Parts: sequence; structure tokens; C-alpha cells
Amino acid sequence: MNFIPAEKTSFLQEVVLGLSNRPKRLTPKWFYDKRGAKLFEQICDLPEYYLTRSESSILETAAVEISEYLGPEVILIEYGSGAMSKVRTLLDSLDKPQALIAIDVADEQLLQASDTLGVEYSDLTVHPIVGDFTSSFDLPLWASAGKRLCAFFPGSTIGNFEPDDAEVLLRSMHNVVGHGGAAIIGVDLKKDKSVLEAAYNDASGISEKFNKNLLDRINRELKGNAQLDQFKHIAPYNEDKGRIEMHLVSLCEQMLTVSNYHFPLKPNETIHTENSYKYTVEEFQALAKSASFAPTAVWVDENQLFSVHLLTRA
Ligand code: SAH
Ligand code: AVI
Repeated sequence: MNFIPAEKTSFLQEVVLGLSNRPKRLTPKWFYDKRGAKLFEQICDLPEYYLTRSESSILETAAVEISEYLGPEVILIEYGSGAMSKVRTLLDSLDKPQALIAIDVADEQLLQASDTLGVEYSDLTVHPIVGDFTSSFDLPLWASAGKRLCAFFPGSTIGNFEPDDAEVLLRSMHNVVGHGGAAIIGVDLKKDKSVLEAAYNDASGISEKFNKNLLDRINRELKGNAQLDQFKHIAPYNEDKGRIEMHLVSLCEQMLTVSNYHFPLKPNETIHTENSYKYTVEEFQALAKSASFAPTAVWVDENQLFSVHLLTRA
């Protein structure tokens, strides 16, 4: 019998839908099971993956200014919190931060990182929400009217959405933070193609493992039959669209089976697993404005690789 537990049905449905598409595609939010979250942490330490280092250094430089903009007793809402390392820089400089509400689909990492943070910051209320931030989610009652809410969305995860979907997400964030609220968003900048492509095609092969882990996860959780050595990782920069595209290319004619579904693949046929859009400062400010946010401040690192935007709601 081919039994898939109920909590895996949305994963199965999205995989089946994506692999039925032309070209075939998978959704990047499924990268982050326990192994995928660990691989992403390794990516963050890669010499080629400048994003994490650049954003962390911007946050350290800008933390005092950010804290002056936000004022005292802020409640932070972190979207896609991952290992929760960057939020510490903000918590250390904010004036009496009240709470951190963290939302992420990666349940195990979210609950573990929340526990660790709660012990380190004993005066802070840490409230994890396991879920998809593109769907509506309930804030705890104590985070409602009258509190200053600030969304924190680091890592350039906003770049993993189509610009139209990024606008919808920003608009929902605008609603979540409410009147007088704000958002701090990390956004990777457009730059030389060679720098971008190196970041997603590292010499040690961690990005390849991260990409292929999606197939491995399908094998483990959805009774898939993918042979990882029959796929090649590629991540070219599409200059016209301003995005890195990650794909898994089939190296031969093969039949990919997922649960009871069968997907034939031709040699060189690709499964598109992720886009990572890059924005100039002006492009991202225009996107923020279209979601009704006011671009209020922006910080860029000295090498002009990454940007951190402060958006406010009038
Ligand atoms: N913010 C961290 C982690 C970035 S990795 C950093 O800057 O290093 C992206 C994170 O977003 C992962 O933890 C992943 O599980 C989460 N994520 C991606 N799409 C999501 C979605 N739709 N809903 C909730 N979490 C999501
Ligand atoms: C989380 N996200 C912003 C990363 C990125 O750069 O698009 C995920 C990633 N994909 C490959 N390497 C890292």
C-alpha cells in the first residue's frame, strides 16, 4: 500500500502539480526539511555566498539607526526566520523589544531556534508560528492594536518570489504590521553575473547538494524514486529577468515516480526549482511603494552587494 501521511498531502499535491507543469517545476519552500535547513546554513558560510555576510555587516552598522527609527517596545515579526541569527543584532540594539513572533515552514528548526533564543533573551517573549507566511496567520492577542509591530524579512527570501507575488506578500505584511508599523527587508542587489553565478554554483558543491536534497526529500517523504546522480545542478543568471534560476537537469531519459504518479523526463529536460530575483535599490523601492509602503531608509554594504530597506506605514 502506498500510504502518505495526512500532513504530507500539501507537499504531495504541490509536487504533483509542479511536475505536471511544462516546464516542470518545484516550489522552493520545500527545500527546508531538517537536512535542507542544515545545508542552507552551510551555504551561508560559503566564501562565494556573499549574501549572508553582507547583510549581517549592514545590520551591525545600521542597528542603532534602525532602533532610533523604530522607537521603544517594538514587537518583531520575523518572516522565514531560519536559524534566527540575524535577528540577534536587532534585538541587541532595540530599546526594550517586547517580543519576537517568528513564522517559518521549517518546523523543527523553528522550534529549536525559538527555544535557544528564548533562553538567551530571557526578558523576551518568543512566539513561533509553524506555517506558510503567504497564507493568512493569526498573531497572538497581545500583539494586536496599539503595539508597534515591525516585520523583519532578511536573507533576500523576498527574491524567491515572482515580483507580482512579492508585491502581494508585501501588501499582506503591510496589513499585518498595521497602522504605524514598519518592515525591514533584506534584498540582494543586481551585480556582475560572474559574482552572482559563483554564489549559486560554489566550488565545494553545497548548492548542488541543497538543490538535489529536494529530490531526496521527495524520495524519503513521498515515496519517490529519483536517482540523484541522474540529475545535474545548474544555476545560471537570467539577465533579462534579473534572476538566478536553479534547475535540476535530467541526464538521461527516465521516469520519475512520486507516490502513484509518473513523470517521464527527456535527456536535458529541466525541473525548475528556484528563482532568486535581484533588485536595484530603486526597483525594490518601487515595488514597496506599489504595496503601499513608504521607503524610509536604505543601507547598502561598502561593496554594494546587498541592501537592507526600512519601509514604514503612514
Ligand atoms: N532568514 C534566514 C533564513 C533564510 S532561508 C536568513 O536570512 O538566513 C529561507 C527561510 O524561509 C527558510 O527557513 C524557509 O523555511 C523559510 N520559508 C521559505 N518560504 C516560506 C514560506 N512560504 N512560508 C514560511 N517560511 C518560508
Ligand atoms: C533563502 N534564499 C534567499 C536563498 C537564495 O539565495 O535565493 C536560497 C538559496 N538558494 C540557493 N542558494 C541559496
